[in-house]
Amino acid sequence: MDARARPLLLAAALLASTALPAQAQAPKLKVGLMLPYTGTYAALGNAIENGFKLYLTEQGGKLGTREIEFVKVDDESDPAKATDNINKLIKRDNVDVVIGSVHSGVAMAMARVAKQSGTLLIVPNAGADAVTGAMCAPNIFRSSFANWQPGYATGEAMAQRGHKKVVTITWKYAAGDEMVGGFKEAFQKSSGQVLKELSLPFPNVEFQALLTEIAASKPDAVFAFFAGAGAVKFVKDYAAAGLKKNIPLYGTGFLTDGTLDAQGADAEGVLTALHYADGLNTPRDNAFRLAYAKTYKLQPDVYAMQGYDAAQMLAVGLAATKGDVTKKAEFAAALRKAKIDSPRGPFTLSASHNPVQDQYLRQVVGKENKSIGIASKALSDPGKGCSM
Ligand code: PHB
Repeated sequence: MDARARPLLLAAALLASTALPAQAQAPKLKVGLMLPYTGTYAALGNAIENGFKLYLTEQGGKLGTREIEFVKVDDESDPAKATDNINKLIKRDNVDVVIGSVHSGVAMAMARVAKQSGTLLIVPNAGADAVTGAMCAPNIFRSSFANWQPGYATGEAMAQRGHKKVVTITWKYAAGDEMVGGFKEAFQKSSGQVLKELSLPFPNVEFQALLTEIAASKPDAVFAFFAGAGAVKFVKDYAAAGLKKNIPLYGTGFLTDGTLDAQGADAEGVLTALHYADGLNTPRDNAFRLAYAKTYKLQPDVYAMQGYDAAQMLAVGLAATKGDVTKKAEFAAALRKAKIDSPRGPFTLSASHNPVQDQYLRQVVGKENKSIGIASKALSDPGKGCSM
């Protein structure tokens, strides 16, 4: 080498090495996505991940100055595997925050571990009342709903529409039990009568015997909770059994959300209540829907919206703590006073960290769950048993 070039090279090397610390950034924030990627709720898990990542992309790939690294686990909507799955994320993968899950039984196991370990948990769907009730904790938040909320709102709407005698049908686990519980509370307040409570184990879809029982009970309406692939089959079987013509079908909005392409004409007219709807036509929702459709070539649904808002909530906490999730008190304080600019409409969190939100009454028209009004305004889950 030319001797005269050496000092130049040295200077360049020096510059490069001194430039490094200035560029050095906080390590990436490790986000554990614990969601169902297989089984009856697979589409729901994917939509949540899509929504979460859409918000992240809109923020230039960072939340509150931190770049994000994902660790994914397929929880299979299996509560029996949930404790092991979240422990792996926390202990083996050292995630800073966990986002999950869809199934209430899985989420309860996750909340138990999060409460003990202090790991930050944001629940982007599962409605298990206890997660923001008896199991509530300063480090546990929900971007979705408590099961009681859409159940209660649907019960109010059904009573208001003049129904008196109803049969309920659902999968037999926390989500179904608690949505039916919320439904009954509102419906019976208006002197409505529940003729029969039918159920089958999750995720079974052999509905025939139960549909025969519905016909024999002669209710003036049916209240149902099913979701994902199971909801597709239930709505189709209900119509095929000839019940749709005579006994109007209602449910929490999961019955027809993200499912309309597969349900087709069999879903037409079904009435549901939920904290999201198609055709809200607000600038915020229109922007979200356009960006989602452009990115994924799919229409967003309630699950995508909840994933998006889980990312927004994480961003609020990270902004307040300058990216340091170990500052738990500051993180929680920021979210407690935040107004989340959600596509569903702005919402705040209750004292137990569950969204306080309007419940829309929706009717299926073609491929849309069209909002036809508000079933319950600013509905807050009571958060029974929460003290923190
Ligand atoms: C739940 O298990 O909490 C659950 C699952 C799917 C839904 C809604 C709630 O669509």
